Amino acid sequence: MAAVIPVHLYGRPADLAQITAIAADAGVPVIEDAAQAHGAELVDPAGSVRRAGGYAPLGCFSFFPGKNLGAFGDAGAITTDDPDLAARLRMLRDHGRSSKYEHRMTGYAHRLDTIHAAVLRVKLTTLDRANGRRRELAAAYSRALDGVGDLVLPPETPGRRSVYHLYVVRTRHRDALLAHLSAAGIGAGVHYPVPLHLQPAYAHLGGRPGDLPVTEAWARECLSLPLYPELTGEQLDEVVAAVRGYFG
Ligand SMILES: Cc1ncc(COP(=O)(O)O)c(C=O)c1O
Repeated sequence: MAAVIPVHLYGRPADLAQITAIAADAGVPVIEDAAQAHGAELVDPAGSVRRAGGYAPLGCFSFFPGKNLGAFGDAGAITTDDPDLAARLRMLRDHGRSSKYEHRMTGYAHRLDTIHAAVLRVKLTTLDRANGRRRELAAAYSRALDGVGDLVLPPETPGRRSVYHLYVVRTRHRDALLAHLSAAGIGAGVHYPVPLHLQPAYAHLGGRPGDLPVTEAWARECLSLPLYPELTGEQLDEVVAAVRGYFG
């Protein structure tokens, strides 16, 4: 069984209207990977708003501690509005159990720990505020870095409201800029340096350098600048000054 799994990468909603239309034509189901996009919004031309993970029949969320909504350890959730899928998923997460001593299928021990659920319940109440702060910081970066060097900044697309899990820029000078920021004590990152087709785990599929030139260029050129809700305006100014300093 095949499925299309669009990823709302870096918190920016994928173009689900187009993707679901193409997948529907091909008769392939769509599963949203909303692991980085808790609270991101898709707005259709008529103005109706749907949140990432709530568009396709299934949405997957990660609550890894570093995510926009993070637990105290590994945790996650799947969303659906389909009662049959929900019932199957509930069984799958708990050893295929339909009642205490009846197992209808082979399942997993993927229950959400109560302690994580308790943490998430509290943190959920501040998610929108934290996402709002992320958006403010992203807008401040985009204002300050517009036109600097060869930087390509993350686009704001009408109808797709990012929650900036990461603020990722692109530059041909990525490695040198990263070294320059590290030397200044600024923790930038690369998400992600090795594309899937070049991962050792998938070597058996025969992927080679050059097979996916666009993907490989992204892997060489992307750089994540520091962005989290607690980042202060002064810290952001420091990062901007260091980036500008690099490009002279
Ligand atoms: C886009 C994306 N999908 C899936 C995952 C996997 O999430 P988890 O490790 O919680 O299963 C992650 C986590 O890093 C992610 O960023």
